[in-house]
Amino acid sequence: MGVRVAVLGATGAVGKEMLTILEERNFPADAIHALASRRSIGRQVSYGDRTLKCVDAAGFDFSQVDLVLASAGGDISREYGPKITASGAILVDNSSAFRMEPDIPLVVPEVNPDAVDGVSKARIIANPNCSTIQTVVALKPLHDLAGITRVSVSTYQSVSGAGTGAMDELWRQTKGRFVNDPVEKNEFSKQIAFNVIPRIGDLMPGGTTNEEWKMAVETKKILDPDIRLIATCVRVPVFVGHGVAAHVEFAKEISPKLARDTLRDAPGVMLVDNREDDGFVTPVECVGEFAVFVSRVRVDPTVEHGLAMWIVSDNLRKGAALNAVQIAELLLERNHLG
Ligand code: A2P
Repeated sequence: MGVRVAVLGATGAVGKEMLTILEERNFPADAIHALASRRSIGRQVSYGDRTLKCVDAAGFDFSQVDLVLASAGGDISREYGPKITASGAILVDNSSAFRMEPDIPLVVPEVNPDAVDGVSKARIIANPNCSTIQTVVALKPLHDLAGITRVSVSTYQSVSGAGTGAMDELWRQTKGRFVNDPVEKNEFSKQIAFNVIPRIGDLMPGGTTNEEWKMAVETKKILDPDIRLIATCVRVPVFVGHGVAAHVEFAKEISPKLARDTLRDAPGVMLVDNREDDGFVTPVECVGEFAVFVSRVRVDPTVEHGLAMWIVSDNLRKGAALNAVQIAELLLERNHLG
């Protein structure tokens, strides 16, 4: 028997990818509902060759479905989460609303698949932050080998991570530069076109942003509570695809060759690391792909056992929608659905 599914936030940058990936991976959906705000009632979204008409989430009866994949923002998840679980459905939530709740699993299937079994308690699984996902997929096999103690990352995050409005803002500002339009800022506090912005999310006491904090605490929850991580998260004028420059310290010696050989066979990872002028992957090349690409693995000579590397992935796919669909597949495989 198939699964009855709803996608909440179906008109959004991630929601659209969720529908596409459910179809691409032949997820056994008996029924599929596209939910958004009342603004989108009747709007059509693609699901493979078919189109679905959006309905208002506010009037939807969640007892019609077994599974909800949500990407409509934290406030909407907090509003609908209790309704969804009370109606008997499982929620896989892409927002940050529930990620750090102790009883709610935070899952990257290549890293901590067994955590999904914790779904029986709260009936919610949280999908991690986009930059965290691609980072832990690349770090997990190396951690198993040589024990990671500390990580320092700088991220180069595309605007799609901030939603459709942010993509529109980059487009408008970029076009505007050529016709001398004044720079209009709604989504970002500074100009994003032809610029980079070293603040993602809200500033916290002490000066860290909550995006940077998420990377540190989510890595602990998913991979290992003993790993210390410091991040500087930067928004860049790229539409899709996040880059992460990672500097990783290990408890034991690990050579770049061993790291590369290990990453070559690691689940979800594609190693592209040729010592040539173009022997690495950039964000535009990973758009539409499922993998986390790792390039430029090399020694960090400033610490005792250190490696530096470049990690890129499609933030709408592995960083969001694909990871959510993989969680749904795991739930099905482990008989938590239906
Ligand atoms: P809508 O298009 O109707 O506003 P993005 O992250 O790309 O900005 O997308 C956000 C998603 O969340 C959209 O699908 C949006 O739908 C949805 N959304 C926003 N507010 C609500 C709401 N009040 N109820 C349901 N969905 C919402």
